[in-house]
Amino acid sequence: MLPTADEAIEELEIAGRLNPGPWVKHSMNTGAAAKYIAEKVPGLDSEKAYICGLLHDIGRRAGITDIPTHVYDGYKYCMKKGWDEIARICMTHSYLRMQDEFSYEPETEHEKAIKEYIMNYGEPDDYDKLIQLCDSLATDYGFVILEKRFVDVTRRYGIMEGYIKGWEVAFSIKECFEKKMGCSIYDVLQDIGRTTLLTPKPWKPSGSSSNKISVGYGDCMQQNGYRIL
Ligand SMILES: [Fe+2]
Repeated sequence: MLPTADEAIEELEIAGRLNPGPWVKHSMNTGAAAKYIAEKVPGLDSEKAYICGLLHDIGRRAGITDIPTHVYDGYKYCMKKGWDEIARICMTHSYLRMQDEFSYEPETEHEKAIKEYIMNYGEPDDYDKLIQLCDSLATDYGFVILEKRFVDVTRRYGIMEGYIKGWEVAFSIKECFEKKMGCSIYDVLQDIGRTTLLTPKPWKPSGSSSNKISVGYGDCMQQNGYRIL
């Protein structure tokens, strides 16, 4: 089950008041990118894609948290609302490599639950892949090409092998959708040429402590040494 687009926007507005930050505009742009791409992919429902994009980070309503926490908070919140299709997007959107992400044993209870969920998930569907892709190209100030986003994050945090493998997945998802669209994904993302060239200063949460580093995107926070996209 899904909320309507109007309900999703209202949820996002409420969440933005609970935890203000660039993640809200990032979510709106993720929804918009998903909608524009889905409109060109036969068999995809662009309204569903839009709603999934709007709410993929809804776990951030709980505050500034790391990746596993916002993933699991979003999942629990959506399940409680009866939005099972959004709940699964909350779980899959940060793990482009899916089962390959979990070669380690998580320490926290919620990360253990995520691992169990992903390990039993099977193949991600087109909506999972679409939101994984759009999450990687939607910033709070607009759409950017994947290379820009990846380089920005790498400049801040350095190179990690697993992260680069995630890039490869993102590029393969991009190519897969482009085959179905018959054009580049960038052809349908308005103003991407201009916004890709922008380099706004990193956003910092008010009252941030030294172990919380914002890098300017809704999803890019480093906390307790855990690097996240
Ligand atoms: Fe996101």
